Parts: sequence; structure tokens; C-alpha cells
Amino acid sequence: MSILRDFRSREIVADEARSGESILLELPPMSPSNPTRGRVSPFLPSRLRTPPRSKSVVDSRRHDSVACIPGETATMSERRPKNRPPAFGMEMEEFLRAARAAAEMAAEHLKGIERRPVFKPMTPEERVTLLTRPLPERPVAADTILEAIRSEVFSHAMGNGHPRFFGWVNSPPAPLGAIADFLAASFDPSCAGGDHAAVYLERCAVRWLMELVGFPVEGSMGLLVSGGSVASLTCLGVARQRIARENGWDIRKEGLAGKPQLVMYVSEEGHSCLLKSAELMGLGERGVRVVPVNEEFRMDPPALERLIREDRAAGRLPFCVAASAGTVSTGAIDPLDDLADLCGRERLWFHVDGAYGALGILDPQLSDRYRGMDRCDSLALDPHKWLSVPLECGCALVRDGNLLRDTFSRVPSYLRTEEGKGFGGLPWYSEYGFQQSRGFRALKLWAVLQQAGREGIREQVRRHCRLARSLAVRIRKEDELELLADPMLSIVNFRSVPARLRGQEEALDDLNKRLVEFLQSDGKVFISGTQLRGRFSLRACILHYATEESDLDFLVDRVTEATRSLTA
Ligand SMILES: Cc1ncc(COP(=O)(O)O)c(C=O)c1O
Repeated sequence: MSILRDFRSREIVADEARSGESILLELPPMSPSNPTRGRVSPFLPSRLRTPPRSKSVVDSRRHDSVACIPGETATMSERRPKNRPPAFGMEMEEFLRAARAAAEMAAEHLKGIERRPVFKPMTPEERVTLLTRPLPERPVAADTILEAIRSEVFSHAMGNGHPRFFGWVNSPPAPLGAIADFLAASFDPSCAGGDHAAVYLERCAVRWLMELVGFPVEGSMGLLVSGGSVASLTCLGVARQRIARENGWDIRKEGLAGKPQLVMYVSEEGHSCLLKSAELMGLGERGVRVVPVNEEFRMDPPALERLIREDRAAGRLPFCVAASAGTVSTGAIDPLDDLADLCGRERLWFHVDGAYGALGILDPQLSDRYRGMDRCDSLALDPHKWLSVPLECGCALVRDGNLLRDTFSRVPSYLRTEEGKGFGGLPWYSEYGFQQSRGFRALKLWAVLQQAGREGIREQVRRHCRLARSLAVRIRKEDELELLADPMLSIVNFRSVPARLRGQEEALDDLNKRLVEFLQSDGKVFISGTQLRGRFSLRACILHYATEESDLDFLVDRVTEATRSLTA
């Protein structure tokens, strides 16, 4: 169905004036034939901020009669030029209509997801169309662009919106998060800092995250970043800053040349972003020691202690243990309590990568596993995973907020402000992280956290972990399936073991790899694979708010059927 259909009611309430009066905005029909109309812009023309003179149906040609934002005075608007060109050629009437069309498209997409394949591979022609579209010389109408989004983009989703998507730790978007993302873009502040609402809202949303996972609020600092990888990189940068300072050198001035080799410890199951961070920080692979895991895929503290001893004896400088609260392959939670003790004894920075699993602490059946996480120096979170905040939304938390600032603060003179004066506000976020300009990620997080509430989030985490355990039970009952790890959180690892291939490890690896490819392109259910102790494992990640037991039954049945057809 075309998104270009006319709207049932062309008179909509456009805005609320500060006085509380609603004004009505007459919408012209969208005109695909008129390319000067309907170009999408995130900017609001200033006349939209003019206070209404009276309650009236607005004539779209009059430039002084559309709604205002609260807080403006008549004097301000009187001085404003009346004939500014519309932003990016888009009249606000067009903006409203395009936004409504986009909202309908989003609603249709979300509502119809279950009826569509989880994933539908693109045809070669479709790929070429997207890859080679030339940049238009002339402006293109908004409705044409929206139609292309509907037909060329929304037709080929990644799949994570579907309740039978078990591929990776990618959740579906919370609808209110999508709405908040749109509003954040329309508002579009830079959250580098300053005395405006978005900055305070981010502080609040980050505090809520701290409270949810039991991270100390007093004296600490956190900021939103693109995802778990950048969150860990940010935190590990602070760890590097501390060790250098403790050893009498200023790493920001002197760098690493001629200094002892810094060493960080990561388990075999640690996420690749930890290794990438070490490389970016100039440690190189030599600066990362990979610690073995036990039979539950959790870091082995005695092995870690041995490695630290070896490194110290060889003149290297151990500085950080990067543990996981939920590994990406199996959801294993490292022995955080023991590691916190060890880091305390050895004076090592204790970082926890909780990008996927930190919220598991909310499940009363699991909270014991997280003992010690409250003693970490830094924690990486990823609200775009279990919380369903639309991508991108990661969060770096650091216990010593001043040290985080010392690691990143570099304020150019043109940005110097004073707290409480002018645009100053709170200390700027740009002093606490790598980014200068920063988007308004906080709004979607703030909205989603409130909509779910602490209880809703807890229930979601509990339900997913329960579903994972139930899938494990189901798999154990199948003769031709093998459970490869007891699920700790909401990831289940298993493989297909048809009787005639039992014991033939290479053939089993080959079959299970082919199963992943087959099931992904078949579109009925989506899983991924991983390596566990050198063997190939199927991997089902449960993070969708709508996934139910029947979807798990369906998954097991599909794996069984697909195995039959691949081995027939
Ligand atoms: C345990 C863990 N750490 C870090 C990351 C990286 O997070 P992001 O992809 O948001 O950068 C992931 C991603 O899946 C993860 O599962």
C-alpha cells in the first residue's frame, strides 16, 4: 500500500500554544508532481516558533500564524524576518504530512512483522539498485524519497524486529524509543554540553542505569556512546590513564614510547571490542593476555593470577582485568566477586563488559552471579541490547568521575564556559569522552526506561532467561540435538547431531554451518553460529519482547526438519 495516500482528516492539531489553546493547521494534499514541495529536513523554520495571534485555521501561505514554542515573547517574534525560505525547501505543512506518512509506514512495518519472513535475502538487482543510485542533481520530493525507503529499504529488514529472530544480541526496537529518536532528531541539540534540557536529561537517564545495575552514583560519571564497544574503549582509556599516573608518567603528554609494556587481561570468551580497544590504545596484541576459561566458559582466576605473576616477573606492567558479565557467545558471567578481590589485591583496574548481560542482575535467580560487579572501576552497558532502545545507545560508567575527566578533558578556548554562567551548565560531556558533538541519544533511553519501569525491565530479563532455560530443556529431550552449554542468561548453544554423524566432529561442524546458512536464508526462523572449544555451535539469542514458548518449539522443529533435508 502506498504511503502517498491522503489522510482521512486534513485538519490536525498542530501545536499547543503556551496559553493552552490549540490551533488548527490545514494540510495541503501531498503532491508527488511538485518537486519543490516535500523535501525532508530536520530543521524547523523560525516562523514555526511564532506565537499564534488567535485560535484559527492556519493559512499555509501566511508566515506568521503557525504555533510557537513555550517561552517566546512577542517582542522576539516581531523582530523576526517574515519571509525566510523554508528549511531545505520544506514547508512545515509538508513536514507534518511526511512525518505522519512516516509514522504510518513505521506502524505498518512493526504491526506486520510477524506475517513476513524473518529475513528475506535481496536479489542481485535490488543490491545493485541500492549500491549504484546516483546522487540526484535536482531536489527530490519527500514523498518520492519515503516511497523509496518503503519499497527498497523496509522490504529487506535485518530481521531483529521479528519474534523468531534468535540471531545475535540484537533486540527489536521499543516503539516509543523510535518515536523518541524522531523527536530527538527534530530537536537536534548537540549534547557536548551546555545549559539546555537534553544535557540534564542524559544525566538523569544515566543515573537510572547506574541504579538499575547497582553502580555507585556518588562521585562516578557516565555518558552515552554509540555502543558497547566504544563504552569499553572509553573505560579502558581511563584505566590506562590511571596506571601511568601511578607510575609517575603523564601518558597524555608522553605516550607509551620507552615505557614498560602495559598488560590487560581478557578471557578467551571476551568480546573482540576489548582486543580492538587494546590495539587502539597502543598496547598491541602483546599487551593483551588471554585467560583460559573453565567448563562454564567463565574466566579462571587461578590462571589469571599465574599470568599476572609471570608478567610482573618479566618486567611488564599489568594494569587491568576486563571481565564479562555475559559473554557474547554463551552469556557466561565471569566470577566477578573473585576477580574484584584479585584486582583489589593486585591494584588492577577492574573493568566489566556488561554490554549484553549486566541487566541479568535484575533476575533474582541470577543476582548472586553478579556479586562483585558493584566493586568494578568501570562498566560498559548497551541499552540497545536488552533494553530495546533503538540503535545506537551504549553507556560507559566510571566510578572515579574526576579520572574520566582527566583522561579526556581538552577544552579549546572557544568552548570555555563557566559553570552556572551563560551557556555553561554542568561540566561538559565532551570533557568526559572522545566525542565533541554528541547526539541526543538520551531521549530514547529516558523514554524507554520510564515506559517499562524497573518492574517491566526486570520482568523482561527474567522472562528471557526463563525461555532460554526452557529451550535448553526442550533440546535435551531431542535425540538428535545436543546442548553445548547450560544457558546462564538468554543465549542457548546447541548443535544438530544426527545418529549417523555422531562422533564425526568435522562432519558435524560442516552440517551445523550449513544449517545456519539454510535457516537464515529460508526466512522462517533466524539463528547464528559460534565456535565453542573448537567446535561449531548453533546459537539462539532470546531478546525479543514478544518471543514465546511456541516460537522456541518452532525453532526446534525447524532445526530438526532442516537437518533432515540437508542430510537426506
Ligand atoms: C558482550 C559484548 N560486549 C561488547 C559488545 C559490543 O557492543 P556493540 O556492538 O554495541 O559495540 C557486544 C555486542 O554484541 C557484546 O555482546
